[in-house]
Amino acid sequence: MFATTQRSHLCGALRLSDAGTAVTLGGWVHRSRNLGGLVFIDLRDREGLLQVNFGPDWAGADVIAAAAAVGVESVVIIEGTVMPRPAEMRNADLATGEVEVQATSIRVVGPAVTPALPVARGKNDKLPAEELRLRHRYLDLRRPELQANLMLRHRLLQVTRRFLSDRGFLELETPILTKPTPEGARDYLVPSRVHPGEFYALPQSPQIYKQLFMCCGFDRYFQLARCFRDEDLRQDRQPEFTQIDIEASFIGREDIMALSEELVACIWREAGHEVAAPFQRMSYADCMERYGCDRPDLRYGLEVHDFTASFATLDFGVTRSVIDAGGRVRGIRVPGGAAWSRKQVDELEGLAKSAGAGGLLRVKKAEGKLEGPVAKFLTPEAEEALALADGDLALLVAATDRISSPALDRVRQECARRLGLVDEHARHFLWVTDFPMFDKDPVTGALAAVHHPFTAANADDVAQYPDAPEKWRALAYDCVLNGLELGGGSIRTSDPRVQSRMFTLLGIGDEAEQERRFGFLLEGLRAGAPPHGGIAFGFDRMSMLLSGGTSLRDVIAFPKTTAARALFENAPTTVPAADLAELNIRSTVDGE
Ligand code: AMO
Repeated sequence: MFATTQRSHLCGALRLSDAGTAVTLGGWVHRSRNLGGLVFIDLRDREGLLQVNFGPDWAGADVIAAAAAVGVESVVIIEGTVMPRPAEMRNADLATGEVEVQATSIRVVGPAVTPALPVARGKNDKLPAEELRLRHRYLDLRRPELQANLMLRHRLLQVTRRFLSDRGFLELETPILTKPTPEGARDYLVPSRVHPGEFYALPQSPQIYKQLFMCCGFDRYFQLARCFRDEDLRQDRQPEFTQIDIEASFIGREDIMALSEELVACIWREAGHEVAAPFQRMSYADCMERYGCDRPDLRYGLEVHDFTASFATLDFGVTRSVIDAGGRVRGIRVPGGAAWSRKQVDELEGLAKSAGAGGLLRVKKAEGKLEGPVAKFLTPEAEEALALADGDLALLVAATDRISSPALDRVRQECARRLGLVDEHARHFLWVTDFPMFDKDPVTGALAAVHHPFTAANADDVAQYPDAPEKWRALAYDCVLNGLELGGGSIRTSDPRVQSRMFTLLGIGDEAEQERRFGFLLEGLRAGAPPHGGIAFGFDRMSMLLSGGTSLRDVIAFPKTTAARALFENAPTTVPAADLAELNIRSTVDGE
């Protein structure tokens, strides 16, 4: 398939069955060894490495000299014959290790300057610093590991397309230049030259467009959609990323979840893993109660328990004042944690504090005795509730749930890591359901959408608490794997009057304002909208997990750093004032 007028085979694809074949190969000089009159070149292409042997029995002296002179990473075209290697020379670590090519000619078609960082590495060589690798991405992307990641990514895209297309989903494209719409994260804005003072936004997701497709009757849509969010970055976030974006009509939560499970299984199978469905389900309320977070890693236990009832009667100021003020005492039991040093537990307290807690209350049981600041105040009931075995440590946070949940989540994760409870090979998929519709600001009382403003509320909740929207649950669902959010979606509000009320609850009460910001959705809904819903999966996150990596940068060809910079292209940059002037923009920061 790869034969062209310039080459006959991919060098990394040659096997013993090709022995005796005359070949013309093109590739990169990965390494070379000159044994004095005998030169070996490891030739590389996207399929892998091949040993090419320039020996005096088949190559002229000028050819051997040319092979010895060629620099690493240069592109060469060689001619020769595939030969079996003698048994003792076979290399079991190399797919081509049973053969070599005895070369009769070499032509340097793409000489390389000395590479800024090595592409070939020994087994134990450490990678150069990531900043250097990102700066020279054209070299880093030659690394077999990154080539394998991007080729896997390609295959995952193809199976996704095939899977969805086979089920009647149409791949429809939505604009990249869109209207600024608040979806909970920040827009990248694009100035319009022809409309001075006006801006497009890059899409944070195709959410409104895919809903409009449903109003248009396309019934089932998908897109491998590029999304842009100007938010603070972490290992699992990039400013520019790809979603598997899905929407369908006449569909309920169960339909989307079942379809998603099949899709996930299909993608995982392509990478060589079987996935068991259906996935476990847990309500948001249960997740927060048992794990302090809405995307718990279920590969280990260390559940959060509520000790409020038994601590309510203790004569201990810290917990008493919190409980009296309506807070709770919650915490985790850490088996074997009593052996940790004071410093080790202080570090955990540091994590709890960085997540917002005032402190971390510790009780340990060593040689049958309870120790810690609260120990001497504990009643028999409180001791029974703590249920510590010898060697256990209880780590408690007394606070409102808003404070204790994130703190206990951080502490739980770190304890699991320390105890070696995280099984890197385990896969624990989870659906988190019944999110609250709104998050109420504790100070201002303002409501914000937990998912996004287009999500439908649970009709029973709306009927039961018509005037208490903070009690409504959303018809939203997140797909979580080992503590990472893989995807999220919801059933949408298809009734324009209900959608308009949602905007009002979110503080966009003015009708003209609603029309100005969301008119194009409301008009679509008013024109006759079917019940609809969907989901979007983070495709980069999936590729990262399936390639065995821990950073999105290892599965994105040209990623940004955590400081949202492209080091290779050097973006963003300032632009000349004249260019800004043409866009009718003036920078308040001194530029060029
Ligand atoms: P949401 O915002 O939850 O939903 O995004 C869906 C999934 O996209 C991935 N993701 C990211 N991946 C990399 N970098 C980022 N900055 C980033 N942000 C999100 C996550 C996430 O689960 N329109 C809705 C979907 C819907 O309701 O159908 C949406 O965008 O894996």
